Amino acid sequence: MSILKVENLSKKFGQKEILKNVSFEINEGDILAFIGPNGAGKTTTIKCILGLQKITKGEVIINGYNIKKNFVKAITKVGCLVESPDVYMYLSGYENLVMQASYYKKITEEDLMKIIQLVGLENRIYDKVSKYSLGMRERLGIAIALINKPNLLILDEPTNGLDPEGIKELRELLIKLSKEKIGILISSHNLSELETFCNKVCILSKGEILSLNSIKEIKNIDENKYILKIDNTTKVKKYLSNIDKILDKNYIEVIKDENDIAKFIKELVLNDINVYEVKKEALSLEEAFIKIAGGKKIV
Ligand SMILES: Nc1ncnc2c1ncn2[C@@H]1O[C@H](COP(=O)(O)OP(=O)(O)OP(=O)(O)O)[C@@H](O)[C@H]1O
Ligand SMILES: [Mg+2]
Repeated sequence: MSILKVENLSKKFGQKEILKNVSFEINEGDILAFIGPNGAGKTTTIKCILGLQKITKGEVIINGYNIKKNFVKAITKVGCLVESPDVYMYLSGYENLVMQASYYKKITEEDLMKIIQLVGLENRIYDKVSKYSLGMRERLGIAIALINKPNLLILDEPTNGLDPEGIKELRELLIKLSKEKIGILISSHNLSELETFCNKVCILSKGEILSLNSIKEIKNIDENKYILKIDNTTKVKKYLSNIDKILDKNYIEVIKDENDIAKFIKELVLNDINVYEVKKEALSLEEAFIKIAGGKKIV
C-alpha cells in the first residue's frame, strides 16, 4: 500500500528553482535511501513533505491525504527527525518523551516504555539529556518521532554523529520498524551504511531525480551471476556453458542458480581446479552513485 506519494514537486526560493519535478513513492515496509550531494535539495524536499516549506508546484499525498487540502489528516501518522532533535537538555529523556506525548491523545505509559526499549534507551532514560552522548540524543529524537505511532518515518541525516555501534543499532531499529510495515525515508551521506538496509534508492542532484530504483537494480545485482577466482582458467573451459565467460587468468563469470552453482563448484574442485573466491557481482552504492552522477563523488 502506498504511504507517501510525491508528485512533480517543484520548489523555488525567490527566482531560484531548487526542486524540479521531483516524484517518488514509498510503500509499506519500504526503506528509501534519499541521497545526493550537498545542496541537492534533500532537506528541502523533506521540509516540503512535512509542510515546513511551502510547495511551489506539485503534490504530496500521505496515506491518501493531500497535504495542501487535508494537512492535519495527512500529517497525523508521520514521525520525523530533521536536523538535530528538538529536546530540552535540562529534562530527562523520559520527561521529554512525556511532554511530547502530552500533545497527542491516548498515549499510555506502556506505549512509551515500548518505544524506549525499541530505541534502546531503557538504561539511561531517566538521566538528564545534557548528560547524553550525541548518539543517545539522536535515539531520543527517533523515540519522539515514534510517539504518535507513525506509519511514515522521515529521517534527515540521522547517522550524523553516531559511532559505528550507534549506526548498527539504528540499522537494526529501522529494519524492525520496516517489518512492522512502517515506510521510511532516510537521507544520509553514509552510503556504505545505507546500502545494507534500504530497499530503494532515490538519487537527487541539483533538484532533479537522477535515478529511482530498487537497491538491487542500482547495484546491478544479477541474482544468478557469480564471479569465481580459480587457480588457472585454462583448465576450466570445458566446464563452462556458452553464457559463462573467462574474465582473465584467474577469474571466470558464470550464470547459474543457487543449486547449480553449488554443483559447479563441486565439479571444479573434484577436477583439481582450486576455487579461492565466489562472489555475486555487484557495485557498491557509492560506485553506483558515481556512475550515475557522472563521476561526481558524493560527500
Ligand atoms: N530557506 C532557504 N532560502 C533560500 N535557499 C535555500 C533555503 N533553504 C535551502 N536553500 C537552498 O536550496 C538548495 C538545497 O538545499 P538543501 O538543504 O535542500 O540541500 P541538501 O540536499 O539537504 O544538502 P545537504 O546534503 O548539505 O544537507 C541549496 O542551494 C540551498 O542553499
Ligand atoms: Mg540536508
